[in-house]
Amino acid sequence: MKAAVLFEYEQPVQTVDVELMDPKPGEVLIKIAAAGVCHSDLHVIKADLPLPVPIILGHEGAGVVEAVGEGVTRVQPGDHVVLSWVPECGECYFCKISRYDMCDTAAALAISGAQRDGTTRFSLNGEDVHQFSMTGTFAEYTTVPQESAIPIRKDVPLELAALVGCGVMTGVGAVINTAKVRPGSSVVVIGAGGVGLNVIQGAALAGAEKIIAVDLVDGKLSLARTFGATHTINAKEKDVVMSVLDYTDQLGAEYAFEVIGRPETIAQAYNCLRKTGTAVVVGVAPPNAEVSINAFSIPSQAKTLTGTWYGQANPRVDLPRLLDLYKAGKLKLDELMSKSYDLSQINEAFQDMVDGKVARGIIKF
Ligand code: APR
Ligand code: ZN
Ligand code: ZN
Repeated sequence: MKAAVLFEYEQPVQTVDVELMDPKPGEVLIKIAAAGVCHSDLHVIKADLPLPVPIILGHEGAGVVEAVGEGVTRVQPGDHVVLSWVPECGECYFCKISRYDMCDTAAALAISGAQRDGTTRFSLNGEDVHQFSMTGTFAEYTTVPQESAIPIRKDVPLELAALVGCGVMTGVGAVINTAKVRPGSSVVVIGAGGVGLNVIQGAALAGAEKIIAVDLVDGKLSLARTFGATHTINAKEKDVVMSVLDYTDQLGAEYAFEVIGRPETIAQAYNCLRKTGTAVVVGVAPPNAEVSINAFSIPSQAKTLTGTWYGQANPRVDLPRLLDLYKAGKLKLDELMSKSYDLSQINEAFQDMVDGKVARGIIKF
Protein backbone atom coordinates (compact mmCIF):
# COMPACT_ATOMS: atom_id res chain seq x y z
CA MET A 1 0.00 0.00 0.00
CA LYS A 2 1.04 3.58 -0.67
CA ALA A 3 1.83 6.19 1.97
CA ALA A 4 3.40 9.66 2.01
CA VAL A 5 6.54 9.40 4.12
CA LEU A 6 8.86 12.08 5.45
CA PHE A 7 12.36 10.57 5.50
CA GLU A 8 14.35 13.70 6.36
CA TYR A 9 13.38 17.10 7.79
CA GLU A 10 13.09 19.96 5.28
CA GLN A 11 12.92 17.47 2.39
CA PRO A 12 9.95 16.69 0.10
CA VAL A 13 7.63 13.94 1.26
CA GLN A 14 7.91 10.73 -0.78
CA THR A 15 4.99 8.54 -1.79
CA VAL A 16 6.25 4.99 -1.41
CA ASP A 17 5.02 1.42 -0.87
CA VAL A 18 5.03 0.46 2.81
CA GLU A 19 4.01 -2.62 4.77
CA LEU A 20 1.21 -2.47 7.32
CA MET A 21 0.66 -5.06 10.07
CA ASP A 22 -2.70 -6.37 11.18
CA PRO A 23 -4.26 -4.44 14.03
CA LYS A 24 -3.17 -5.55 17.51
CA PRO A 25 -5.60 -5.77 20.46
CA GLY A 26 -7.54 -2.53 20.87
CA GLU A 27 -6.58 -1.29 17.39
CA VAL A 28 -8.55 -0.62 14.22
CA LEU A 29 -7.57 -0.92 10.56
CA ILE A 30 -9.07 1.87 8.47
CA LYS A 31 -9.31 2.34 4.72
CA ILE A 32 -8.73 6.07 4.35
CA ALA A 33 -11.11 7.88 2.00
CA ALA A 34 -9.81 11.43 2.37
CA ALA A 35 -7.22 13.36 4.36
CA GLY A 36 -6.88 17.10 4.90
CA VAL A 37 -3.56 18.91 4.61
CA CYS A 38 -2.96 20.91 7.79
CA HIS A 39 -0.19 23.33 8.72
CA SER A 40 0.79 21.00 11.58
CA ASP A 41 1.98 18.48 8.96
CA LEU A 42 4.27 21.19 7.66
CA HIS A 43 5.44 21.90 11.22
CA VAL A 44 6.74 18.31 11.28
CA ILE A 45 8.56 18.72 7.96
CA LYS A 46 10.20 21.91 9.28
CA ALA A 47 11.09 20.14 12.58
CA ASP A 48 9.03 22.73 14.48
CA LEU A 49 7.26 19.65 15.80
CA PRO A 50 10.30 17.39 16.05
CA LEU A 51 9.02 13.82 15.56
CA PRO A 52 10.99 10.68 14.70
CA VAL A 53 11.51 9.97 10.99
CA PRO A 54 10.69 8.17 8.78
CA ILE A 55 7.12 9.14 9.54
CA ILE A 56 3.80 8.98 7.70
CA LEU A 57 2.29 12.46 7.89
CA GLY A 58 -1.38 13.42 7.99
CA HIS A 59 -3.62 13.57 11.07
CA GLU A 60 -6.89 14.86 9.61
CA GLY A 61 -8.82 12.09 7.89
CA ALA A 62 -11.87 9.91 7.52
CA GLY A 63 -12.51 6.45 6.18
CA VAL A 64 -14.18 3.10 6.65
CA VAL A 65 -13.30 0.47 9.25
CA GLU A 66 -11.80 -2.53 7.47
CA ALA A 67 -10.94 -4.75 10.42
CA VAL A 68 -10.71 -4.60 14.19
CA GLY A 69 -8.26 -6.14 16.63
CA GLU A 70 -9.13 -8.20 19.67
CA GLY A 71 -11.19 -6.45 22.33
CA VAL A 72 -12.33 -3.55 20.15
CA THR A 73 -15.79 -2.46 21.26
CA ARG A 74 -16.18 1.06 19.89
CA VAL A 75 -16.42 0.30 16.15
CA GLN A 76 -16.98 -2.58 13.74
CA PRO A 77 -16.08 -3.23 10.10
CA GLY A 78 -18.08 -1.04 7.74
CA ASP A 79 -18.43 1.86 10.19
CA HIS A 80 -17.58 5.31 8.87
CA VAL A 81 -15.05 7.02 11.12
CA VAL A 82 -13.31 10.34 11.56
CA LEU A 83 -9.84 10.09 13.04
CA SER A 84 -9.05 11.80 16.32
CA TRP A 85 -5.38 12.64 16.79
CA VAL A 86 -5.73 12.70 20.58
CA PRO A 87 -6.75 9.15 21.56
CA GLU A 88 -7.44 9.46 25.26
CA CYS A 89 -6.05 6.85 27.66
CA GLY A 90 -8.91 7.28 30.16
CA GLU A 91 -6.55 6.68 33.08
CA CYS A 92 -4.27 9.72 33.49
CA TYR A 93 -5.14 12.65 35.74
CA PHE A 94 -6.42 14.81 32.84
CA CYS A 95 -8.61 12.02 31.47
CA LYS A 96 -10.05 11.54 34.97
CA ILE A 97 -11.13 15.19 34.99
CA SER A 98 -12.52 14.75 31.42
CA ARG A 99 -9.85 16.96 29.82
CA TYR A 100 -9.11 14.43 27.08
CA ASP A 101 -7.33 17.12 25.03
CA MET A 102 -4.64 17.19 27.73
CA CYS A 103 -4.20 13.38 27.98
CA ASP A 104 -0.61 12.78 29.11
CA THR A 105 -0.41 9.36 27.50
CA ALA A 106 -1.60 10.59 24.11
CA ALA A 107 0.91 13.47 24.24
CA ALA A 108 3.81 11.12 25.02
CA LEU A 109 2.77 8.69 22.28
CA ALA A 110 2.44 11.48 19.74
CA ILE A 111 6.07 12.40 20.42
CA SER A 112 7.18 8.76 20.10
CA GLY A 113 5.47 8.34 16.70
CA ALA A 114 4.46 4.81 17.76
CA GLN A 115 1.34 2.98 18.91
CA ARG A 116 0.39 2.32 22.55
CA ASP A 117 2.74 -0.66 23.00
CA GLY A 118 5.70 1.43 21.80
CA THR A 119 6.03 -0.34 18.43
CA THR A 120 5.12 0.86 14.95
CA ARG A 121 2.57 -0.77 12.64
CA PHE A 122 4.21 0.39 9.41
CA SER A 123 7.58 -0.65 8.01
CA LEU A 124 9.70 -0.26 4.90
CA ASN A 125 12.38 -2.82 4.04
CA GLY A 126 12.32 -3.97 7.67
CA GLU A 127 12.77 -0.46 9.05
CA ASP A 128 10.11 1.05 11.37
CA VAL A 129 7.95 3.80 9.88
CA HIS A 130 6.27 6.07 12.43
CA GLN A 131 2.81 7.67 12.33
CA PHE A 132 1.96 11.30 13.04
CA SER A 133 -0.05 11.36 16.28
CA MET A 134 -0.90 7.64 16.05
CA THR A 135 -2.91 8.43 12.90
CA GLY A 136 -0.86 8.91 9.70
CA THR A 137 -3.70 9.66 7.31
CA PHE A 138 -1.62 10.27 4.16
CA ALA A 139 -1.84 6.54 3.50
CA GLU A 140 -4.28 4.22 1.76
CA TYR A 141 -4.78 2.31 5.01
CA THR A 142 -3.83 3.02 8.58
CA THR A 143 -4.01 1.29 11.94
CA VAL A 144 -4.97 3.38 14.96
CA PRO A 145 -6.01 2.88 18.59
CA GLN A 146 -9.79 2.45 18.83
CA GLU A 147 -9.94 5.75 20.73
CA SER A 148 -8.82 7.46 17.50
CA ALA A 149 -11.62 5.93 15.42
CA ILE A 150 -14.71 8.03 16.05
CA PRO A 151 -17.86 6.51 14.47
CA ILE A 152 -19.96 9.01 12.51
CA ARG A 153 -23.21 9.22 10.56
CA LYS A 154 -23.00 7.79 7.06
CA ASP A 155 -24.81 10.55 5.21
CA VAL A 156 -21.90 13.02 5.17
CA PRO A 157 -19.35 12.50 2.36
CA LEU A 158 -16.12 11.23 3.90
CA GLU A 159 -14.06 13.95 2.18
CA LEU A 160 -16.04 16.55 4.14
CA ALA A 161 -16.12 14.51 7.34
CA ALA A 162 -12.31 14.35 7.23
CA LEU A 163 -12.15 18.11 7.80
CA VAL A 164 -13.74 17.95 11.23
CA GLY A 165 -10.93 15.65 12.39
CA CYS A 166 -8.55 18.57 12.89
CA GLY A 167 -9.21 21.99 11.37
CA VAL A 168 -12.90 22.33 12.16
CA MET A 169 -12.65 20.80 15.64
CA THR A 170 -9.63 22.91 16.53
CA GLY A 171 -11.11 26.18 15.25
CA VAL A 172 -14.72 25.83 16.36
CA GLY A 173 -13.64 24.21 19.64
CA ALA A 174 -11.32 27.14 20.44
CA VAL A 175 -14.36 29.41 20.34
CA ILE A 176 -17.06 27.20 21.88
CA ASN A 177 -15.10 25.03 24.33
CA THR A 178 -12.13 27.21 25.32
CA ALA A 179 -13.13 30.88 25.02
CA LYS A 180 -16.88 30.24 25.40
CA VAL A 181 -17.58 33.35 23.32
CA ARG A 182 -20.81 35.08 24.37
CA PRO A 183 -23.41 36.31 21.88
CA GLY A 184 -22.86 39.95 20.94
CA SER A 185 -19.09 39.90 21.55
CA SER A 186 -16.29 41.29 19.43
CA VAL A 187 -13.73 38.78 18.19
CA VAL A 188 -10.40 39.13 16.37
CA VAL A 189 -8.99 36.18 14.44
CA ILE A 190 -5.36 36.50 13.37
CA GLY A 191 -4.62 34.04 10.53
CA ALA A 192 -7.50 33.04 8.25
CA GLY A 193 -6.14 29.71 7.01
CA GLY A 194 -7.69 26.26 7.26
CA VAL A 195 -8.01 26.49 11.05
CA GLY A 196 -8.60 30.26 11.29
CA LEU A 197 -11.62 30.09 8.98
CA ASN A 198 -13.11 27.64 11.45
CA VAL A 199 -12.46 30.00 14.35
CA ILE A 200 -14.35 32.58 12.30
CA GLN A 201 -17.30 30.29 11.65
CA GLY A 202 -17.23 29.19 15.29
CA ALA A 203 -17.49 32.84 16.35
CA ALA A 204 -20.42 33.32 13.96
CA LEU A 205 -22.07 30.19 15.40
CA ALA A 206 -21.57 31.59 18.92
CA GLY A 207 -23.35 34.80 17.94
CA ALA A 208 -20.41 37.22 17.96
CA GLU A 209 -21.40 40.65 16.69
CA LYS A 210 -18.04 41.76 15.27
CA ILE A 211 -15.67 39.23 13.75
CA ILE A 212 -12.46 40.89 12.59
CA ALA A 213 -10.28 38.68 10.40
CA VAL A 214 -6.56 39.42 9.95
CA ASP A 215 -4.35 37.90 7.26
CA LEU A 216 -1.63 38.86 4.79
CA VAL A 217 -3.45 37.48 1.75
CA ASP A 218 -6.48 39.28 0.29
CA GLY A 219 -7.93 35.99 -1.00
CA LYS A 220 -7.95 34.66 2.57
CA LEU A 221 -9.74 37.77 3.75
CA SER A 222 -12.52 37.39 1.19
CA LEU A 223 -12.89 33.73 2.21
CA ALA A 224 -13.04 34.97 5.80
CA ARG A 225 -16.11 37.05 4.89
CA THR A 226 -17.77 33.92 3.46
CA PHE A 227 -17.23 32.24 6.83
CA GLY A 228 -18.73 35.13 8.81
CA ALA A 229 -16.08 37.85 9.21
CA THR A 230 -17.66 41.30 9.44
CA HIS A 231 -14.38 43.26 9.17
CA THR A 232 -11.02 42.40 7.62
CA ILE A 233 -7.49 43.73 8.07
CA ASN A 234 -4.61 43.03 5.72
CA ALA A 235 -1.65 43.07 8.14
CA LYS A 236 0.70 43.96 5.28
CA GLU A 237 -1.12 47.22 4.75
CA LYS A 238 -2.43 48.28 8.14
CA ASP A 239 -1.42 48.28 11.78
CA VAL A 240 -3.45 45.46 13.29
CA VAL A 241 -3.84 46.76 16.85
CA MET A 242 -4.74 50.29 15.71
CA SER A 243 -7.29 48.97 13.23
CA VAL A 244 -8.92 46.73 15.84
CA LEU A 245 -9.20 49.73 18.19
CA ASP A 246 -10.86 51.68 15.37
CA TYR A 247 -13.39 48.89 14.82
CA THR A 248 -14.21 48.56 18.55
CA ASP A 249 -14.86 52.12 19.75
CA GLN A 250 -11.17 52.37 20.85
CA LEU A 251 -11.79 49.67 23.48
CA GLY A 252 -10.16 46.66 21.84
CA ALA A 253 -11.81 43.28 21.28
CA GLU A 254 -13.31 41.02 23.91
CA TYR A 255 -11.69 37.92 22.40
CA ALA A 256 -8.66 37.42 20.16
CA PHE A 257 -7.47 34.17 18.57
CA GLU A 258 -3.98 33.61 17.20
CA VAL A 259 -4.14 30.94 14.51
CA ILE A 260 -0.66 31.02 12.96
CA GLY A 261 1.90 29.98 15.60
CA ARG A 262 4.28 32.96 15.76
CA PRO A 263 5.41 34.85 18.88
CA GLU A 264 4.80 38.27 17.23
CA THR A 265 1.20 37.48 16.33
CA ILE A 266 0.55 35.93 19.75
CA ALA A 267 1.63 39.23 21.35
CA GLN A 268 -0.52 41.03 18.78
CA ALA A 269 -3.58 38.99 19.82
CA TYR A 270 -2.99 39.97 23.46
CA ASN A 271 -2.49 43.62 22.49
CA CYS A 272 -5.75 43.70 20.48
CA LEU A 273 -7.78 43.02 23.62
CA ARG A 274 -9.67 45.45 25.76
CA LYS A 275 -9.08 45.25 29.52
CA THR A 276 -10.47 41.92 30.87
CA GLY A 277 -10.46 40.39 27.37
CA THR A 278 -9.36 36.86 26.54
CA ALA A 279 -6.71 35.80 24.01
CA VAL A 280 -6.61 32.17 22.91
CA VAL A 281 -3.52 30.82 21.17
CA VAL A 282 -4.44 28.14 18.63
CA GLY A 283 -1.29 28.29 16.47
CA VAL A 284 1.56 25.97 17.36
CA ALA A 285 4.87 27.85 17.66
CA PRO A 286 8.24 26.02 17.68
CA PRO A 287 8.99 24.46 21.11
CA ASN A 288 11.68 27.01 22.10
CA ALA A 289 9.84 30.19 20.99
CA GLU A 290 9.11 32.84 23.64
CA VAL A 291 6.49 35.59 23.65
CA SER A 292 7.11 39.10 24.94
CA ILE A 293 4.26 40.80 26.79
CA ASN A 294 4.31 44.03 28.77
CA ALA A 295 4.51 43.04 32.43
CA PHE A 296 2.67 46.07 33.81
CA SER A 297 -0.33 45.29 31.60
CA ILE A 298 -0.81 41.93 33.31
CA PRO A 299 -2.16 43.26 36.62
CA SER A 300 -3.38 46.61 35.31
CA GLN A 301 -5.44 45.25 32.39
CA ALA A 302 -6.52 41.90 33.85
CA LYS A 303 -6.55 40.10 30.50
CA THR A 304 -6.56 36.34 30.13
CA LEU A 305 -4.00 34.66 27.88
CA THR A 306 -4.67 30.99 27.32
CA GLY A 307 -4.33 28.30 24.70
CA THR A 308 -6.28 25.47 23.16
CA TRP A 309 -5.19 22.07 21.93
CA TYR A 310 -7.48 20.23 19.50
CA GLY A 311 -10.23 22.70 20.37
CA GLN A 312 -10.44 21.21 23.87
CA ALA A 313 -12.34 18.35 22.27
CA ASN A 314 -14.21 15.49 23.76
CA PRO A 315 -13.92 13.74 20.38
CA ARG A 316 -16.71 11.16 20.79
CA VAL A 317 -19.20 13.92 21.55
CA ASP A 318 -17.85 16.87 19.60
CA LEU A 319 -16.87 15.33 16.24
CA PRO A 320 -20.32 13.79 15.55
CA ARG A 321 -21.93 17.01 16.77
CA LEU A 322 -19.99 19.07 14.22
CA LEU A 323 -21.34 16.82 11.46
CA ASP A 324 -24.87 17.26 12.84
CA LEU A 325 -24.36 21.03 12.63
CA TYR A 326 -23.22 20.61 9.02
CA LYS A 327 -26.34 18.61 8.17
CA ALA A 328 -28.45 21.28 9.88
CA GLY A 329 -26.92 23.89 7.56
CA LYS A 330 -25.16 25.68 10.42
CA LEU A 331 -21.55 24.76 9.66
CA LYS A 332 -19.72 25.19 6.37
CA LEU A 333 -17.64 22.27 5.15
CA ASP A 334 -18.05 22.36 1.36
CA GLU A 335 -16.55 25.85 1.21
CA LEU A 336 -13.46 24.69 3.11
CA MET A 337 -12.50 22.03 0.60
CA SER A 338 -11.03 24.24 -2.07
CA LYS A 339 -8.86 21.72 -3.93
CA SER A 340 -8.32 17.98 -4.01
CA TYR A 341 -5.19 16.03 -4.86
CA ASP A 342 -3.90 12.50 -5.40
CA LEU A 343 -1.55 11.20 -2.74
CA SER A 344 1.35 11.57 -5.21
CA GLN A 345 0.66 15.33 -5.38
CA ILE A 346 1.21 15.80 -1.65
CA ASN A 347 4.16 18.20 -2.04
CA GLU A 348 2.12 20.37 -4.40
CA ALA A 349 -0.64 20.41 -1.78
CA PHE A 350 1.86 21.66 0.83
CA GLN A 351 3.12 24.33 -1.57
CA ASP A 352 -0.43 25.55 -2.29
CA MET A 353 -1.00 25.90 1.47
CA VAL A 354 2.22 27.88 1.90
CA ASP A 355 1.31 30.09 -1.07
CA GLY A 356 -2.11 30.80 0.46
CA LYS A 357 -3.95 29.30 -2.54
CA VAL A 358 -6.34 27.01 -0.65
CA ALA A 359 -8.72 27.09 2.33
CA ARG A 360 -8.04 23.38 2.88
CA GLY A 361 -6.42 20.98 0.44
CA ILE A 362 -7.77 17.42 0.54
CA ILE A 363 -6.01 14.23 -0.50
CA LYS A 364 -8.60 11.89 -2.00
CA PHE A 365 -8.06 8.15 -2.20
N1 APR B 1 -0.28 38.00 10.00
C1 APR B 1 -1.50 37.60 9.57
N2 APR B 1 -1.71 36.41 8.95
C2 APR B 1 -0.64 35.63 8.71
C3 APR B 1 0.67 35.98 9.13
C4 APR B 1 0.83 37.25 9.79
N3 APR B 1 2.02 37.68 10.21
N4 APR B 1 1.51 34.99 8.77
C5 APR B 1 0.75 34.03 8.17
N5 APR B 1 -0.55 34.42 8.13
C6 APR B 1 -1.70 33.69 7.59
C7 APR B 1 -1.46 32.97 6.27
O1 APR B 1 -1.62 33.84 5.17
C8 APR B 1 -2.53 31.88 6.31
O2 APR B 1 -3.76 32.29 5.73
O3 APR B 1 -2.01 32.63 8.51
C9 APR B 1 -2.73 31.60 7.81
C10 APR B 1 -2.23 30.23 8.25
O4 APR B 1 -3.07 29.29 7.67
P1 APR B 1 -2.64 27.84 7.13
O5 APR B 1 -1.28 27.91 6.53
O6 APR B 1 -3.78 27.30 6.34
O7 APR B 1 -2.45 26.99 8.49
P2 APR B 1 -3.56 26.22 9.37
O8 APR B 1 -3.67 24.79 8.91
O9 APR B 1 -4.78 27.06 9.47
O10 APR B 1 -2.83 26.17 10.78
C11 APR B 1 -2.59 27.36 11.52
O11 APR B 1 -2.97 26.40 13.68
O12 APR B 1 -3.41 24.27 14.46
C12 APR B 1 -2.43 25.22 14.20
O13 APR B 1 -0.47 23.87 13.70
C13 APR B 1 -1.42 24.77 13.17
O14 APR B 1 0.14 26.46 13.79
C14 APR B 1 -0.81 26.08 12.80
C15 APR B 1 -1.99 27.03 12.86
ZN1 ZN C 1 -4.10 19.77 12.14
ZN1 ZN D 1 -5.16 10.20 29.53
